[in-house]
Amino acid sequence: MPKKYDGDTKKITELITRAGEKARRETKGAPEPGLTKPINWPVSCTVGPGLEGAIACESKIGYVNGTKGWLIYRGYDIFDLCAHSNFEEVSYLLLHGNLPTESQFKEYKQKLTKYRNLNKTMRFFMNYPVEKMNAMSALRIGSHLMRHELTYADTASYKHDESRIISSDEDSIAMETKPMGEKNAIYGFKRNKAIKKLKDISSGLQSATGIESCYHLISGVATVAAAVSRLLEGKLPIEPDPELSHAANLLYMMTGRKPTPLEERIMDVSLILHADHGMNASTFASMVVASTLSDIYFSVGAGIAALNGPLHGGANEYVLYTLQEIEKPENVKKWVKSALKNKKKIMGFGHRVYKSYDPRARVLAPLAKYLAQKDPESQALFNTARALEKEVSVAFGAKKKIFPNVDFYSGIVYSCLNIPPEMFTTIFAVSRVSGWTARVLEYLENNRIFRPRAMYTGAFDRKVVSMGRRK
Ligand code: CMC
Repeated sequence: MPKKYDGDTKKITELITRAGEKARRETKGAPEPGLTKPINWPVSCTVGPGLEGAIACESKIGYVNGTKGWLIYRGYDIFDLCAHSNFEEVSYLLLHGNLPTESQFKEYKQKLTKYRNLNKTMRFFMNYPVEKMNAMSALRIGSHLMRHELTYADTASYKHDESRIISSDEDSIAMETKPMGEKNAIYGFKRNKAIKKLKDISSGLQSATGIESCYHLISGVATVAAAVSRLLEGKLPIEPDPELSHAANLLYMMTGRKPTPLEERIMDVSLILHADHGMNASTFASMVVASTLSDIYFSVGAGIAALNGPLHGGANEYVLYTLQEIEKPENVKKWVKSALKNKKKIMGFGHRVYKSYDPRARVLAPLAKYLAQKDPESQALFNTARALEKEVSVAFGAKKKIFPNVDFYSGIVYSCLNIPPEMFTTIFAVSRVSGWTARVLEYLENNRIFRPRAMYTGAFDRKVVSMGRRK
């Protein structure tokens, strides 16, 4: 039976404010001087495996202080944004540097409303066997299908090989065509005459990295995620409702029920919390793709692919399975003992940057607690989570500084909102698109292709011998 939560949204603001006050008391101090100043290239830094400690670029978008447990977007503390803002404002802030004025907000919301409708993309997307796919791989395909207009990258390649350019969302692809003369040719495609008419490539969705494409992705990836969720359940996708916010639309398009204000507020907070987080693996992946002057849709696709892994965004799903496996608080001690003995990574704990409590978990924990108390099954999950947190903190906390991360409590929140576990990471992606696009745009202002080197530790002076003589 789907759960429904009614209640006063002021309670949520109160919980966030309280978490923020506690965090400020416990994490007072100054920003790290070595990591908060302009760079004079080349820069010296100590680099560990996995590029730990490497400085890849300058950014004004967001700051993570791992020692203190701070998360700041464009100068605003994450607790302040969660308490007093919304995802639309925050995604605008990340992209443009300031919170929107009233007229800017109105215009931005109109764009998001327009781009939330993906009629053409959906028509193509539903030709894929989404119901048999992993949710994140379906999301990646859907986000690529959103790139239905030609972009700068296309026009550039057009000069080299005209016959290979096919606009992905056009009707002109012939379903049955004659072989074009090659011995084994099966498919042929009509040349797309629209390409020749393409004049203005610097604006609109035709731009490889234009702001409109960023709006399109920030809004549309949510529509794709919701469609994936529906299709995985054997249901048809639902069109967005122009009267609803981004968070409310996401829940509505997934579940088919318009959320209560409380449910909408909680989803909104979750989207704010996941929007940006420094040079994490998926953001870096998007930036690497963009640095080749590829295309923002490809960059976001790379972000989705990188986020999928269990060491990154994929952890939230595994946390829920872990809690279900442990079943109840009484089993936690034994489970942790066995995990440690087998050197198993405990999902939802630890972080490359945070060596203190993740501020996002500080917000999500009380929200999970608040929601869980209204449903016995969720309450059992929450109690098990609390016991696991305690046990892991005892085992690791002081020594290794391993605390719950953002993924630890988000799953309980999502499952209370009737979102199935296989969709958890897609919700993370829906939000993180805002960080990916903002950081890609910022990096492209002073782009240099990413190209580190590897230390070669292989052999030299080997000679090719014929196959029969190889051992
Ligand atoms: N469970 C058990 N041991 C851990 C954990 C964990 N969750 N995290 C770190 N450790 C241990 C690790 O075994 C290593 O021990 P030792 O020094 O004895 O070899 C030490 O702590 C350092 O860990 P690491 O894996 O080298 O650290 P990293 O910076 O390379 O990895 C991490 C960071 C997040 C991938 C890792 O903590 C991890 O695998 N956590 C579980 C997966 C997870 O929750 N991921 C979500 C990350 S936050 C949201 C996001 O960005 O997606």
